[in-house]
Amino acid sequence: MFKVAVVTMSDKGARGEREDRSAGVIKEMVAKLNWAVVDYRVIPDDYDLIKETLIDLVDHGKNDLILTTGGTGLGPRDNTPEATLAVIQREVPGLAEAMRIESLKKTNRAMLSRAVAGVRNRSLIVNLPGSPKGVRECLDVILPALPHGLEILT
Ligand code: MTE
Repeated sequence: MFKVAVVTMSDKGARGEREDRSAGVIKEMVAKLNWAVVDYRVIPDDYDLIKETLIDLVDHGKNDLILTTGGTGLGPRDNTPEATLAVIQREVPGLAEAMRIESLKKTNRAMLSRAVAGVRNRSLIVNLPGSPKGVRECLDVILPALPHGLEILT
């Protein structure tokens, strides 16, 4: 069983102004694999805070997988990919490539997500888009490949 952390990047969500349905989708899909979501945080789209949170979840939380949702688009406050790139040591481009390729079959807006994925120490961090629909569609693509990736990593 892998340890999973979920982080929602949303200024509105962090202020309690928006219900976080996307994290619910992640938790539901991860639970089907019998993996444990042991940490869940909703934080503002702040570059430094995202970095600190990801580092904490890897270095102290020792989570195997960290799934983020939101903040991957073109908005001025969309900082998730930059903060993720700043904390990972090795990029895993195929995960983001696969998500975009498959998602493009559903919506041309998939090309607007700048999501990245990569490894820090023994943890894999994957950015997902912010909408519940986007989360579901992207997890459908990558989840089947993750058990093998995480086994090699941990
Ligand atoms: N990917 C999938 N599979 N399905 C979607 O509906 N939405 C897109 C894209 N990726 C979407 C998707 C949209 S509309 C945007 S703006 C970008 O993700 C970035 O979303 P974010 O800023 O909420 O992370």
